[in-house]
Amino acid sequence: METLLISDPTDFSIAAHILQEGGLVAIPTETVYGLAGNGLNATAVSNIFIAKGRPSDNPLILHISNLEMLNPLVKAIPPTAKLLMQAFWPGPLTLIFEATDTVPSIVRAGLPSVAIRFPSHPIIQSIISLSGVPLAAPSANTSGKPSPTNACRVQEDLNGKIDAIIDGGSCEFGLESTVVDLTGDVPVILRPGAITYAMLTDVVAKVIIDPALTHHDTSLTPKAPGMKYTHYAPDAELIIVKGPLDRVIPEINHRLQEAKSKGLRTGVLGTDETLDSLHCDIKISLGSEMNLHQIAANLFEKLRIFDDLGVDIVYTLSFKEEGIGKAIMNRLEKSAGYHIIDVCE
Ligand code: TXA
Ligand code: MG
Repeated sequence: METLLISDPTDFSIAAHILQEGGLVAIPTETVYGLAGNGLNATAVSNIFIAKGRPSDNPLILHISNLEMLNPLVKAIPPTAKLLMQAFWPGPLTLIFEATDTVPSIVRAGLPSVAIRFPSHPIIQSIISLSGVPLAAPSANTSGKPSPTNACRVQEDLNGKIDAIIDGGSCEFGLESTVVDLTGDVPVILRPGAITYAMLTDVVAKVIIDPALTHHDTSLTPKAPGMKYTHYAPDAELIIVKGPLDRVIPEINHRLQEAKSKGLRTGVLGTDETLDSLHCDIKISLGSEMNLHQIAANLFEKLRIFDDLGVDIVYTLSFKEEGIGKAIMNRLEKSAGYHIIDVCE
């Protein structure tokens, strides 16, 4: 299949037509690129799973472009949902509701609930409106790889497997949306993102964080099926070193030296402030440690660059789990397969 690359807004109607016919189009959002198909068409949705190589027990998010689109998809809109929608939609927040039968079972991976997001990016909003249906859209990467934050990375993974890719430049946030489950008495964060715990509790009094997110104990199964898989992994072995910088830097340098002596091509994922004091073959900065939003926006793209350069082993610093730092560390730890060295221990 030839994959069409669309960048001119006058061609957006072509993308909408492809979606109406059951085809697949990768579309930029404010978080990451999504691989979209008609969310009410089970065959289109099945093709999304095939193109990504995604396990069928991992449900998809339905994307809407106005609030009227929500009603047919969900059984009820609880009062907490109304508050969160008012505060954060459109934007990087996904809410989980009890689903109606209108939502095909394959979208929900057989669950009674459905995840809904109203994205703020004008391109996906425009494509949803033109196609007139909710779009099922997981991140537009091959399952397991870091999510794509620009059209080139989508091409790398999905060229020849999908009908079209819309190039809308780089994504603003760079990490996937915060996922909040509203099907119980208290909202539960199933996946941290740019809408942080503090932002959520400013709007609704009580919010719980899924315990499986904070304890890396494998006996706890996360409530978002997608959170249990190894994810975002570069081909290189990635290792996080945690602790005070004056101990982390010599520890990383020592380990890099050891890796070099074994003939490995070494890399470091650092910050503007630390890169000069680290010594390896390929050094990449995520940005200034004073700006966690910049670090979040760069994370997935920088991880992919190590693979472009054939690096075997990468050491990375860790970040404070405050604000968006929680989402950064969640993704980084999964990328590293929880290979973490704590120099305080
Ligand atoms: O920012 C985003 O959310 C991006 C853009 C494209 O919108 N999409 C995205 O989709 O990250 P995906 O499929 O890569 O991640 C969806 C997450 C998965 O962890 C999945 O298990 C969870 O949401 N999820 C979806 N439906 C669910 C449900 N009914 N119950 C619990 N978790 C659900
Ligand atoms: Mg994903």
